[in-house]
Amino acid sequence: MFCDNQIFAAPLAGITDRPFRRVMRQFSPNSPLLTEMISCHSLVGAHKNCLRNFDRYDDEGAVGAQIFGANVNLMADAAKILADAGARWIDINMGCPVPKVATRAGAGAHLMRDHALAGRIMSAVVRAAGVPVSIKTRLGWDDAHADWRDLINIAADCGVRFATLHGRTRAQLYVGPALLPDVHGAPIPIIANGDIRTADDARRAENLGYGGVMVARALMGRPWALREITGGAAPENIGEVVLRHLEYALEYYGARTAVPMFRKHAAWYSAGMSNSSEFRIRVNQITDPDDLKSAIREFWGCVENI
Ligand SMILES: Cc1cc2nc3c(=O)[nH]c(=O)nc-3n(C[C@H](O)[C@H](O)[C@H](O)COP(=O)(O)O)c2cc1C
Repeated sequence: MFCDNQIFAAPLAGITDRPFRRVMRQFSPNSPLLTEMISCHSLVGAHKNCLRNFDRYDDEGAVGAQIFGANVNLMADAAKILADAGARWIDINMGCPVPKVATRAGAGAHLMRDHALAGRIMSAVVRAAGVPVSIKTRLGWDDAHADWRDLINIAADCGVRFATLHGRTRAQLYVGPALLPDVHGAPIPIIANGDIRTADDARRAENLGYGGVMVARALMGRPWALREITGGAAPENIGEVVLRHLEYALEYYGARTAVPMFRKHAAWYSAGMSNSSEFRIRVNQITDPDDLKSAIREFWGCVENI
């Protein structure tokens, strides 16, 4: 069975920011965590929308930074900037299907259709980064082009250390069950991604030849999900976790941004609990951080001094 350091947290745009990683880290001291995807353009241009992505990572343990883009030189520069900022490794996004990334920018999943460009990006990033480089990709563009093996072979030739394989095609987006192929004999270790939730899922991946697993949507509202795979329990007092996450978000973004941004997290944390829809409606109207804390305390019945 996999150890903690083989159980990865996926990059999730709008979710795996520094406050959320801080909470995950408390449950999983040794698991590798990834940042949200970071545009090489906005990073190298120090675009103001990207400044929040420009963290230092030195105090975060094993954190990798994920970059996306289609410009070879900017991708290499971005990798160097993030490695200098303390990222332990650089992950290249080769799976994002959203039109803004895959169609208009020619990045993300588009690189599954342009292996020559993908190869040039991987070689340049490996040369520039000074830390290990990985890629995250899918089975292929669609069922007729499920050529992940070719891309993994190119990655290995370019010096990429490992790859994450999401068991869906770009055409499938995030819908339908993920199907993980057998990867025995792959030239680099492959991490399994797609519908990974339980220890059984991880064991199945191990039997198929994977070197680890990456948990994605199962983390929403469950920052302890990584440790559940190795038999750890969910925390007893979830309200405390929610309040801590909120404190970190307030500290990081300030109240104006953090309070509305936290609504989705509050919804995920409370999903499936009784009265959760009333709680969501209440939280969606709140603009003051102290009111949000009170609503959370009330919902989870937390003691006043947390
Ligand atoms: C809201 C959301 C944001 C995502 N952001 C990223 C991202 O920034 N980079 C990336 O490589 N994949 C991203 N993904 C894809 C996930 O990392 C993962 O590959 C996918 O959700 C499949 O795993 P799952 O079935 O366990 O959710 C995102 C997915 C979702 C739902």
